[in-house]
Amino acid sequence: MKSLIVTGGANGLGRSIAESASKAGYRVGILDVNIGALEEAASSIENATPLVASVTSTDEVKAALQEFGQTPDIWVNNAGIVRFAPLLELSEDDWRAVIDVNLTGTFICSTIVAEAMAIRGSGSIINITSINGISAGANSGAYGATKSAISLLTQQMSLEWGKLGLRVNALAPGLIDGGMSEPIYSDPQFRKLRTEKVPIGRLGTEEDIAQAVLFLGSDNASYITGHELVVDGGIINSIIANLPRPSSVDSVGLDGE
Ligand SMILES: NC(=O)c1ccc[n+]([C@@H]2O[C@H](COP(=O)([O-])OP(=O)(O)OC[C@H]3O[C@@H](n4cnc5c(N)ncnc54)[C@H](O)[C@@H]3O)[C@@H](O)[C@H]2O)c1
Repeated sequence: MKSLIVTGGANGLGRSIAESASKAGYRVGILDVNIGALEEAASSIENATPLVASVTSTDEVKAALQEFGQTPDIWVNNAGIVRFAPLLELSEDDWRAVIDVNLTGTFICSTIVAEAMAIRGSGSIINITSINGISAGANSGAYGATKSAISLLTQQMSLEWGKLGLRVNALAPGLIDGGMSEPIYSDPQFRKLRTEKVPIGRLGTEEDIAQAVLFLGSDNASYITGHELVVDGGIINSIIANLPRPSSVDSVGLDGE
């Protein structure tokens, strides 16, 4: 039976990844610091093992992998936190907290599991980034910086670990109806305003992300590594199209004008 471990899997996107992987026939490890949510998730998902650990602790992650009892085919670095503030108001503690969980956590987990995967000679690591790591956003200086750094770290890991049999990719979700964005989309006004901006005409679902993760982890993606897959309904490419402009310029340059 193939297996997958997802960090931050007790809630939001991670939980959905765990559910979809279980439905697709994987044995699943759910690693999280939130013990209550973790137990609830693991007990309601078939073939799921709860793994209590913080991604910021080498010892805890090593112990979690040992507790799982097998080297997973897929490891998903999904655990992430936000601390929103303008840079001039962001405390050093908050900056460090975001770097520690998002970036250092990805480094710690990836290096531990890569060592184990290399012994087997195969494995797939998927790092969850964000469109906020591609384009700066309001008050998200620390968060966006970690996501952008994880993109480059993904390239670096794919470069160094390809010959060990590992593929490493990143997945950048866009506007997702769930997880840490729940406070935004539970407000009907902002939900509507934001939905209208998405070229595909809807918000993304947690399932959209989970299915893309399973694709990247599967043999169907066996020649894809060092790639960042943007799963955003087109929003990141629509910034210029969303700028207001007079309709009189819409046909400038056409024959006969
Ligand atoms: N929801 C979105 O709109 C969205 C968009 C783009 C990217 N993302 C990314 O998706 C990932 C999941 O986000 P989400 O929206 O599901 O968030 P969430 O807050 O719902 O879930 C995050 C999970 O991570 C766990 N976690 C936090 N610190 C941890 C640690 N030190 N060790 C282990 N687990 C820890 C939390 O307990 C929680 O279960 C994050 O990396 C986030 O940046 C989310």
